[in-house]
Amino acid sequence: MIRGALPLLLLACATETAEPPAALDCASEPVVTWENVGEGLMIENCQSCHASTSLNRNGAPESVVFDTHTDVITFRSRILAVTAPDTRTMPPSLALSDDDRHLLQVWLECWE
Ligand code: HEC
Repeated sequence: MIRGALPLLLLACATETAEPPAALDCASEPVVTWENVGEGLMIENCQSCHASTSLNRNGAPESVVFDTHTDVITFRSRILAVTAPDTRTMPPSLALSDDDRHLLQVWLECWE
């Protein structure tokens, strides 16, 4: 009996950890742009520290600024890296909802 159960358990664990990260299927994602989501999302969650006009950057590098769409695109891959669910470090409070992280990813990966 135990002999039969063990391989099953191992199999269950193996399939769970072997699950690939969900790839983004842009065709089935919403249209997300600087105009309809991006600018507001950056102002609300990032610009308190990252705006060129920020009075208290809390240590955010002077060069990492998200004032314009072009600024954001310049840092596109870094933004994706620091807000991705598994490597998140931004915002430092981590108070960005998973829904907003997803929108950010859709915006920068599917639409820009
Ligand atoms: C409370 C202040 C604060 C807020 C809000 C904030 N950041 Fe930062 N950010 C920092 C600090 C401090 C650093 C430098 C230290 C570091 O890299 O972790 C930084 C660095 C960065 C970097 C450069 C780091 C790298 O590895 O390339 C990026 C990109 C970034 N932030 C993106 C964001 C995004 C996107 C948001 C909004 C979702 C955000 N930050 C919100 C303080 C902040």
